[in-house]
Amino acid sequence: MPIKIENLFYTYLRKTPNSSEALKGVSLEIPNNSFAAFIGRTGSGKSTLIQTLNALLLPTSGEVHVDDFVVTSNKRKNKNIKGLRKHLSIVFQFPEYQLFEETVEKDVAFGLKNFGYKEQDALKEAHKALESVGLGPKFYQKSPFELSGGEKRRVAIAGILALSPDILVLDEPTAGLDVKGTEDIMSLVKKMHDDGKTIIVVTHDMELVMEYCNLVFLLKDGKLVYQGTPDLLFDQINESSAIEIPPLYKLAKLLKDRGANIDIQSIKCVDDLVNQITRKGNKDE
Ligand SMILES: Nc1ncnc2c1ncn2[C@@H]1O[C@H](COP(=O)(O)OP(=O)(O)OP(=O)(O)O)[C@@H](O)[C@H]1O
Ligand SMILES: [Mg+2]
Repeated sequence: MPIKIENLFYTYLRKTPNSSEALKGVSLEIPNNSFAAFIGRTGSGKSTLIQTLNALLLPTSGEVHVDDFVVTSNKRKNKNIKGLRKHLSIVFQFPEYQLFEETVEKDVAFGLKNFGYKEQDALKEAHKALESVGLGPKFYQKSPFELSGGEKRRVAIAGILALSPDILVLDEPTAGLDVKGTEDIMSLVKKMHDDGKTIIVVTHDMELVMEYCNLVFLLKDGKLVYQGTPDLLFDQINESSAIEIPPLYKLAKLLKDRGANIDIQSIKCVDDLVNQITRKGNKDE
């Protein structure tokens, strides 16, 4: 089990009149090679939780285990934080705002140099990472500020990919992108998952959850209120919930309720539903 969270509490501004308890006893496990999502209303604790995973925030109490690394409230117990951050890296919401070097290649190489790479080696790795996000040599010397929003985000993701983490955490990776930008980023993330990485996303987009994720965690006021597959989640929530059930799920459920022989769990996109219906139709002929 690469990630195990045990009774995690986190309080901001502890021991001040403004203190706020963002996580209230969360326990969960994320198996290897998962494509997991954290969902929940704004302020439910999603970003707080993921920042404890690589010790950007230390628990107020409780423990986080990531493979052989441990994150606790006790700094002395948290060994090799640098190694942990290379093993599990986080792409923040709107990471493009963190681009600051004068060229794209320097920006991607920056993190590597922090991990002790020499300039030339860092650039070589940066080029590989840029290639993998679909940005070829003509982008190397450009200023990050000349790029489109989607390209900037890809540069920011390349900066994290260059570190070749085994676990990649993305906080709202598609926020603010159009349909094409969303597809580009998600097919990139899917490729990393296919390559064997564990993926964790924070998102408000339930269609994204349905299409890509095999495990979903719902937070409510700092507590975990659901963990399981997306289809069972959509099955449990009612129309008045803050979670928007994807139209594709609703349609598949409706067809199933009317007697169609449909395996909802395996439906990720419209084509899956079409294939199931036509396959059944062919069989009946
Ligand atoms: N730096 C901070 N100082 C004080 N309180 C904070 C801080 N960051 C977050 N909080 C509080 O902690 C709680 C959880 O915030 P968090 O950012 O984890 O929510 P979230 O689920 O990521 O929300 P969103 O969907 O809006 O990104 C909220 O009540 C928030 O107001
Ligand atoms: Mg957040």
